[in-house]
Amino acid sequence: MSDHPQPHLRRLAAGILAAGIVAAGLVGTGNVAAAASSSTAPAPASNPTSTYAPEDDFTANWTREHALEIKPDQTNTKPFIDPEFPVMSDKVWVWDTWPLTDLDMNPVTYKGWHVIFSLTAPRDEFFGDRHWVARIGYFYSRDGKNWTYGGDAFPDGASPGGREWAGSTVITNGNQLEAFYTASGKKDSFGCACDPLQRLVNSPGKIHADKDGVWFGGFEDHTVIAEADGEMYQTLEQSESGPIIYAFRDPFVFRDPADGEIYALFEGNNPGVAGTHTCDSHEIGDVPDNHDVPDDARYYTGNIGLMTKTSKGQDYTGWKLLPPVLSAECTNQQTERPHLTIEDGKYYLWTISHKFTFAPGLTGPDGLYGFVGDSIRSDYQPLNGSALVLGNPEEAPLQNYSDYVMPNGLVESFIDTVPDGSGGVVYGGTLAPTLELELDGATSTLVEEHPFAYIPALRNIAGEP
Ligand code: FRU
Repeated sequence: MSDHPQPHLRRLAAGILAAGIVAAGLVGTGNVAAAASSSTAPAPASNPTSTYAPEDDFTANWTREHALEIKPDQTNTKPFIDPEFPVMSDKVWVWDTWPLTDLDMNPVTYKGWHVIFSLTAPRDEFFGDRHWVARIGYFYSRDGKNWTYGGDAFPDGASPGGREWAGSTVITNGNQLEAFYTASGKKDSFGCACDPLQRLVNSPGKIHADKDGVWFGGFEDHTVIAEADGEMYQTLEQSESGPIIYAFRDPFVFRDPADGEIYALFEGNNPGVAGTHTCDSHEIGDVPDNHDVPDDARYYTGNIGLMTKTSKGQDYTGWKLLPPVLSAECTNQQTERPHLTIEDGKYYLWTISHKFTFAPGLTGPDGLYGFVGDSIRSDYQPLNGSALVLGNPEEAPLQNYSDYVMPNGLVESFIDTVPDGSGGVVYGGTLAPTLELELDGATSTLVEEHPFAYIPALRNIAGEP
């Protein structure tokens, strides 16, 4: 999350914000083309990784060794966003956003309409408090650039939780949609920063469209499909002795072409009572002799979880938790919104993370981090040696967040908090310019900046309206 339920984390966030304000005078103009052409970084080889069956218990590590290699440069730093950015809705703040996709991770149009889902909150809520009133809203567009706000995706009160947090939405059969998201908090917790419970939910719906727009039916039945089990994924209770924010959220549903089965990635923490973890050599890696692992690093246990659909056919309510595919234990507490693209047989595993969630003794910018492997469960290697793919500029550390990579290398994200150039900040709550990555084995390079909120589909379903 960008804002934080626990009081000490709110203070930390305020500190980061203050740093952004102080640095505001340094804002300059970014130029991606110049950035890409001036790249001199050596390309890490894309070595084949060891692969394992999805049900296996092998978990790759994002180690302290990797994180020590984080070096922001022009190939991995996002261009500055002018504080005069366009706003896509004057009704709602917009943050975490995902396109309607098919099961093969392709953004699709339905009858020629692009559709995206976003976490939304009324603009009269304080921007930092939006998480506690989050609803999944939707937008539609003919051109994938100019979006019309369609309202809430689900009927009021349908969710088993208090707030609706991030997820994914797939079109499965005809006009059948399956929404997956995080029910945050208990049923009565809307508006309250009180209850960090997180459960994964499925709800089936139908998409309809005519020449004037898009609307939904269904989305009335909401089933909890996964809860942290304490054996593979930390429960809320196990996390409570720890000092930092907890996660079991953000399901991303896809079909693995290797076996045709349906899986979901999600964000979790390693199981066990916070503080009982130890920083072992496979989590630390080969660090320089003078690198200390502070004691408190053991509290940082982010992972990327996996589960597989067990219910048959068009029933998306039965799932089985599998061990995490990636662990950031002793490196980072949050591996948010994990998702996947597959290119040339390589599995690119993406996640977003914050500077403040790196374990003590490590640092990296808020932004997009990535790994590459040869199957969904493999010995993922960090892209660029460190996993840093796209970070915020140092002078605008909270500029944008929640990057989502599409199979064509385009990356959408939302504008968070931008220095205004005169000592203040502007809250975003709208989509940022889309960026484009070029992938070459284990190397990623920022190659282009596209218009704000540009999310073009890769396939059309059901013809024109
Ligand atoms: C990322 C995130 C997600 C979560 C949502 C809550 O920005 O923290 O992990 O679902 O925001 O607002």
